[in-house]
Amino acid sequence: MKLRNYQDGDETAIADLWQRAGLMQNPLNDPRKDIAFCLAGGHGEILVLEDEGKVVATAMVGQDGHRGWIYYVAVEPDRQGQLLGRRIVRAAEDHLKAQGVPKIHLMVRGSNTDVVGFYQRLGYRVEPVTTMSRRLDGNALAVGHQMDDAPVIITYLEMLARPSLPQIVPKTRQYALMGAHDISVNFYRYLYDAVGRPWYWTDRKKLSDEELANIIQDDKVEVYVLYVGGTPAGFFELDGRRMPDLELAYFGIMPDYIGLGLGPYLLVQALDMMWQKEPDRVLVNTCTLDHPKALPLYQRMGFRPYDRQEVPAPWQDPDNILDFA
Ligand SMILES: CC(C)(COP(=O)(O)OP(=O)(O)OC[C@H]1O[C@@H](n2cnc3c(N)ncnc32)[C@H](O)[C@@H]1OP(=O)(O)O)[C@@H](O)C(=O)NCCC(=O)NCCS
Repeated sequence: MKLRNYQDGDETAIADLWQRAGLMQNPLNDPRKDIAFCLAGGHGEILVLEDEGKVVATAMVGQDGHRGWIYYVAVEPDRQGQLLGRRIVRAAEDHLKAQGVPKIHLMVRGSNTDVVGFYQRLGYRVEPVTTMSRRLDGNALAVGHQMDDAPVIITYLEMLARPSLPQIVPKTRQYALMGAHDISVNFYRYLYDAVGRPWYWTDRKKLSDEELANIIQDDKVEVYVLYVGGTPAGFFELDGRRMPDLELAYFGIMPDYIGLGLGPYLLVQALDMMWQKEPDRVLVNTCTLDHPKALPLYQRMGFRPYDRQEVPAPWQDPDNILDFA
């Protein structure tokens, strides 16, 4: 096993490792850009553990003139638990110590609290501080759709008759769509966060477990989960509490599964199921924070806009639970 600095040609292996290690949760973080920026201005270094020619662990390390920082600590998933994480963090510490840096800071995403135990084992402590941030690159959003603090525009769409639905075959095998009967609050929260985080879905996060259970376990509300290779890849939720208006309340694919044609497939399945319930109207809404393809996709399937509303951007609401870095 060799500890070394980043070298030309590592980029793809490192970006893939970060993806596999679950570090690429925020679509605004482009691993290639982050690597280039780290190495460009003498900001820092990327330390690599290499085993038999393969990158098995990384840490991005640097200092800002006051404190040392560590980012992108990742160990190849099937090599975790073999003390490689400890080794790469110690290497990052040595790197900073050699520069006379007196203290290290690092951030752990709120959804990755498991990893706090790892750092505690290595002697790190949880600080009673609030980390605040503001982007300077104009990108307020996952796909740069909305770039500033302008109000979010919600478009309400309706469909008054069953459209002819195209047959769509996803570009993946081993997929299955299953109704989640009496879905548990925990599983629902997982689905909602996994699908909705890049799009700032926050409404359901503000509900207590009881309030949420009252909605999702209502007989007139149905949640269907799309599985790919046995793991959840997306879901949709039908809300029939205002029948004969039937609403597609939530609909989405998890970031890892976007690009496989699953969105159109899932939407066709949802619409087929909805029209089988013989509603007068099928409703959906989408906003300027959603994936930019959402509105055209809904329109292609036969939805027509019937109303619009402006609401403040979710990051201006201090009650919102947002988890981006
Ligand atoms: C977090 C991560 C880097 C740890 O690397 P690892 O190689 O699996 O961990 P190690 O084998 O070096 O473990 C070092 C010590 O931490 C402990 N530890 C590891 N993971 C732990 C966890 N989740 N909770 C508590 N302790 C943990 C180990 O038991 C070990 O303790 P010991 O030395 O007293 O026996 C690795 O799991 C990973 O890449 N995770 C995904 C990416 C990630 O979340 N990175 C952190 C971003 S902030």
